[in-house]
Amino acid sequence: MNYKSISKLFMLGFILAFMFSSCTKEGPMGPGGADGADGTDGTDGVDGQVTCLVCHSGTNMEAKQGQFWMSEHAVGAIAVDYAGGRQSCAQCHSHEGFVQFATLGEVLGDISNPSAWECNTCHGLHETFEGQDYALRLHAPVNPVFDNTLTMDLGGNSNLCANCHQSRRAEPGYGLEELPETFKITSTHYGPHHGAQGNVVAGMGFAEIPGSVAYPEQGSSKHLNQASCVGCHMAEFTNEEGGHSFIPSLAACNECHDADLDDYNYGGVQTEVHEMLVELRDQLIALGVVEGNDEDGYHPHVGTFPTVQVQAFFNWVGLEEDRSLGVHNPKYVKALLRNSIEAMEAELNALAAN
Ligand code: HEC
Ligand code: HEC
Ligand code: HEC
Ligand code: HEC
Ligand code: HEC
Ligand code: HEC
Repeated sequence: MNYKSISKLFMLGFILAFMFSSCTKEGPMGPGGADGADGTDGTDGVDGQVTCLVCHSGTNMEAKQGQFWMSEHAVGAIAVDYAGGRQSCAQCHSHEGFVQFATLGEVLGDISNPSAWECNTCHGLHETFEGQDYALRLHAPVNPVFDNTLTMDLGGNSNLCANCHQSRRAEPGYGLEELPETFKITSTHYGPHHGAQGNVVAGMGFAEIPGSVAYPEQGSSKHLNQASCVGCHMAEFTNEEGGHSFIPSLAACNECHDADLDDYNYGGVQTEVHEMLVELRDQLIALGVVEGNDEDGYHPHVGTFPTVQVQAFFNWVGLEEDRSLGVHNPKYVKALLRNSIEAMEAELNALAAN
């Protein structure tokens, strides 16, 4: 914080402390008249000094800074790259772009000198100064990019994250009564974009191909309702995890699950999801939708394919790039992958029969 905001902070804190102490202190007793009837209690005021200093003590802000230096957000490898400056990418890829998006609703033009995230990227002005007012620039539910007539609610402060960590495209069958026979993949970058974690946690926006596993009701996920992004990634900072490092907190998993894990592979779910991702990828390679290898990476073939195969590809690449291996929404992810695998099995059988 610069000198100006510090003096503003102290002035505000002082005024509030003064205001609220003068409301609650009793004056000296007057000469004994008859007591009047008790009035109803007023609502408690905010104790200015105490509330401000909970967050604004020097060590707290310095601790947040130290944690934040552990995060990739502070590096902005992609932000300082070309995406941070481009008008169409900057709302999620640079400090300057996100601040414009949050305050103006749009990015006005290309940014000549984009930079990585800083405190001020996510934090702006206070609204109420009360306990949970972290001065976040955005925290309302998000209208997802893949269909901005919908609302995607990650719950409170986690909505901040979903503005950026979301899918940029609808799945190929989205909103259609009947699937078109084929779908054309026009670019080797085709897919939901690299970090659709918001959609995975919320359980919306992937291709719900029919199959033997029922899809959970939208919004029913326990991780969405009990933890969401900040509950895992920003739980109290311990063991170099959580807080402003944004690294998922194993302590938070253990506390909630009453478990004693030493990795995120609770119940072997990450292993199971990893195996399904590999199986689905190999099916897509056999069908000619995906090409590549472990060294150079995998990408889709540009070309025209049966729509259901492109849906399965969309699920595969989106869940691969989610990178939680199912933890974000175990039931939804397992249903998507199992049903995609079954559908691709049928496609391969049909191919073999021809
Ligand atoms: C729950 C935590 C929290 C509490 C409580 C809190 N702040 Fe803040 N405040 C923040 C954060 C986080 C920022 C952004 C930090 C940054 O950008 O460096 C901030 C920024 C500010 C700023 C600069 C931006 C602005 O809004 O003008 C001022 C001034 C400020 N706070 C004053 C106060 C005062 C006065 C109080 C008490 C009435 C208070 N804060 C209580 C967390 C808090
Ligand atoms: C302004 C857009 C934006 C916001 C807001 C945002 N992120 Fe990110 N986040 C990114 C981008 C882009 C990357 C990749 C950064 C890079 O490598 O340059 C990233 C990286 C990450 C990573 C990778 C690991 C690391 O150490 O940073 C995690 C985890 C993450 N974000 C979680 C979150 C959570 C949780 C929130 C909400 C509290 C959040 N992000 C808010 C855009 C954003
Ligand atoms: C709605 C937000 C959003 C928009 C718009 C957006 N991105 Fe991203 N992008 C992200 C997030 C979030 C990540 C990081 C995800 C993660 O680390 O999991 C990311 C990651 C990337 C990566 C890194 C992939 C990797 O695996 O290292 C590239 C490259 C990229 N974006 C390019 C672009 C380009 C180019 C544009 C504009 C044409 C763009 N993005 C627009 C949110 C967005
Ligand atoms: C990527 C977005 C993001 C960035 C960047 C960020 N914060 Fe935060 N910060 C949050 C969110 C979200 C919360 C609320 C977490 C929650 O709800 O548990 C928060 C909460 C806080 C709090 C109040 C919680 C507490 O434990 O005291 C402080 C203080 C704070 N941030 C300071 C900072 C400082 C200082 C920086 C820069 C070093 C910073 N933040 C950078 C997203 C961010
Ligand atoms: C139940 C706890 C939990 C919740 C809720 C959660 N995450 Fe995660 N997240 C994880 C775990 C565990 C990983 C895998 C980390 C690893 O293997 O290193 C992960 C991975 C990620 C990654 C990739 C990080 C990397 O370094 O590869 C990003 C980005 C991310 N989460 C963002 C989010 C966002 C945004 C939200 C909310 C929409 C969210 N997460 C909700 C636990 C959670
Ligand atoms: C705030 C509480 C909370 C936190 C934090 C939390 N979980 Fe969960 N998790 C739950 C609940 C509740 C369920 C649903 C339990 C059930 O259905 O049996 C669940 C389910 C799961 C499942 C699915 C179990 C299965 O066999 O299908 C996995 C895997 C999981 N959690 C892993 C994690 C990991 C890893 C973390 C930390 C990164 C974590 N959880 C953090 C509450 C939490």
